[in-house]
Amino acid sequence: MSTMKSTESLKNKVIWITGASQGIGRQLALTMAKRGGTVLATARSYGNLDRLQHEAQDLEGIIIPLPADVTDQDSVIRAADVIMTRFGRVDIAVLNAGTFIKTDGVDFRSTHMRKHLELNVMGVCHCLDALIPMMVDQQSGTLAVNASLAGYRGLPGAAAYGASKAALINMAESLYTDLKPHGVDVKVINPGFVKTPLTDKNKFEMPFLMDVEPAANAILSGLGNQPFEIRFPKVFGMMMGFLRVLPYRAFFSVTRRLNQ
Ligand SMILES: NC(=O)c1ccc[n+]([C@@H]2O[C@H](COP(=O)([O-])OP(=O)(O)OC[C@H]3O[C@@H](n4cnc5c(N)ncnc54)[C@H](OP(=O)(O)O)[C@@H]3O)[C@@H](O)[C@H]2O)c1
Repeated sequence: MSTMKSTESLKNKVIWITGASQGIGRQLALTMAKRGGTVLATARSYGNLDRLQHEAQDLEGIIIPLPADVTDQDSVIRAADVIMTRFGRVDIAVLNAGTFIKTDGVDFRSTHMRKHLELNVMGVCHCLDALIPMMVDQQSGTLAVNASLAGYRGLPGAAAYGASKAALINMAESLYTDLKPHGVDVKVINPGFVKTPLTDKNKFEMPFLMDVEPAANAILSGLGNQPFEIRFPKVFGMMMGFLRVLPYRAFFSVTRRLNQ
């Protein structure tokens, strides 16, 4: 089984990143190409992927645009077929495409939930349909799912987003055990707040907001160092980890205050 080491060059590694046209995915694509990786960059907007490819042209590795809509299973299958035809394998997949729509409880909309489930959850599942048989066949590979610290517990304003990310964390936990004997390494990425076009839209205060470059570095280092969960930033991650195990009475007394 080939497990990535944090200091290892990514030369000759075939890496598939979804949600790579902006934000965390885009920066991670550049960071991994700097380390020599061959990065297949997926998103819907070809223009942004094309610009990203040009931006990477002097790096040790390469970025190849692979446009697809992850909510559309056929689109994902076509993208995976392109990778298989050209490279015959995927060593590392970072399933990162996702969105956040603030869902205040009094304005709850099933449409918000559907959007989160179709993109954040089913978008990942469509990629897994292609990746799991491929990696099991290879008897190697790293499958990383980008969830969120918001998936730990139900936070105010995040009923739909948090539920979608909780589903991803739970699913990754199951897959970790199921796929380990087949040489496939499953990881979950749980970031706090990262400055991206997504969070630039937020009007609320974001504690421990971090820049996208250190976030991408934390993901890359975690892919090499962490057995399962890649969580950052450290202090906020610890605080959310504490919140995760609080009994309901104490938990709701914290979230009530967050909502004021
Ligand atoms: N930023 C944070 O604070 C934070 C914290 C925790 C977790 N996360 C998670 O990290 C991931 C990335 O977040 P971000 O802040 O970088 O978001 P972002 O700036 O909005 O980027 C989202 C990416 O997903 C792509 N995407 C959206 N819909 C897609 C679709 N149907 N098919 C393929 N690609 C699609 C977008 O490209 P196109 O529009 O071109 O398709 C874009 O490249 C998300 O899963 C998010 O939940 C973010």
